[in-house]
Amino acid sequence: MGKFRIRGGRKLAGNVRVIGAKNAILPILAAVILTRKPVVLYDFPHLADVENMLLILQSIGCRIKRENSTLFIDPSDINSWVIPDRYVKEIRSSIVMLGAVLARMQKAVITYPGGCEIGQRPINLHLQGLRQLGVIITESHGYLECEAANMVGADIHLDYPSVGATENIMLAATRARGRTVIRNAAKEPEITDLQNFINSMGGKVAGAGSNTITIDGVESFHETEYTVIPDRIVAGTYLVAAAITGSEIVVENVILEHIQAIVTKLRETGCMITPYKGTDLGAIKIKAPPRLWAIENTKTHPYPGFPTDMQALLMSALTVSKGTSIITENIFENRFKHVPELIRMGARIRTEGKIAVIQGVPRLKGAQVSAGDLRGGAALVMAGLNAEGVTEIDNVRHIERGYDKLDEYLRSIGADIERIESS
Ligand code: UD1
Repeated sequence: MGKFRIRGGRKLAGNVRVIGAKNAILPILAAVILTRKPVVLYDFPHLADVENMLLILQSIGCRIKRENSTLFIDPSDINSWVIPDRYVKEIRSSIVMLGAVLARMQKAVITYPGGCEIGQRPINLHLQGLRQLGVIITESHGYLECEAANMVGADIHLDYPSVGATENIMLAATRARGRTVIRNAAKEPEITDLQNFINSMGGKVAGAGSNTITIDGVESFHETEYTVIPDRIVAGTYLVAAAITGSEIVVENVILEHIQAIVTKLRETGCMITPYKGTDLGAIKIKAPPRLWAIENTKTHPYPGFPTDMQALLMSALTVSKGTSIITENIFENRFKHVPELIRMGARIRTEGKIAVIQGVPRLKGAQVSAGDLRGGAALVMAGLNAEGVTEIDNVRHIERGYDKLDEYLRSIGADIERIESS
């Protein structure tokens, strides 16, 4: 069991590079099995969730080789349609394997993914969409047994623009006969990346990024090489690290359009954020004021709204702002687990239902705290960078699901943070 130990109060300086996006690579790894030809993925992030997804691919017959951040996958010999329980329990988002396995094997068996740290997370919209494509789904003893002998394109309206449901339906529909239209689809950049990846193998998907996506079924796919988009939440994390420590840093490998909602909020706190021309990759520079300003109102929404994955991180910055801020969490029902931990560090926060009221204090104080989920854990790291004295965060396995060597990256820009093994 690992811990982060942070001595807060250091100013950060220099350049830090963002890795490939976790939420883009996971559905792309599922999509790899649509083809029988080799696939090469560049800028491949080393994350616990992604490692688990690779184990799933290996368990159904993919051969995988890695050289630094390049991944070679040979999906020619897939021999199983059963997605093993133990991985689905580890990584909830492996549910996107369902659509991909159905497209490749015309059947699939997967355990019903339960809730997780941040909420119940039902999959009714995934299943409704797949059934509309003609998939016969039997639910028994916690398993979903699916048959897709005759998938036919359909006009599917999602009740809510679910990211995972949009991806699962897109994946299955690539092999359905005729055209599928997904209306009220999720518009997240990771959906567009999935479309671009599928099309790079010869798929016919259009409209991702808007609320209507069309998928024309194709007979087969060819080989491809692809570079995944940078992680917008990791980019936002570094911006918060600068904001909460009153620092000036450059964040490299960002697509500004993808982080517009985050940039807008941080500008409201008084940070100056400008495009930076000094590197080959897209980059931005952030210069934080000595003390942040409070933000009257922030509400999480589907993209292009303010992302729920940044809620805890923004909250950590607002704990040391001047004035009172209000955050409303609209997407997940149990996403304030970081609040009691931030309070242990001296933050003044009250929550009621999905609303948190944050009264800024001049500075946080180091404490022993525990990461309860991925982004909430990262928010505690941010808080530790600000806090007076030593902060120790245990359960860092939650953080490592979505951040590759966060301690090393933060140390490279001047943070005093180390990862230690705890008993
Ligand atoms: C994805 C992201 C996650 C992010 C979330 C919202 C991945 C691997 N994860 O999760 O980091 O926080 O989008 O931006 O990409 N819902 C239903 N029925 C369904 C599906 C979803 O009611 O069938 C509800 C969920 O409970 C939740 C909301 O819809 O309240 C949003 O969920 P969804 O967009 O599906 O998120 P994920 O794809 O699970």
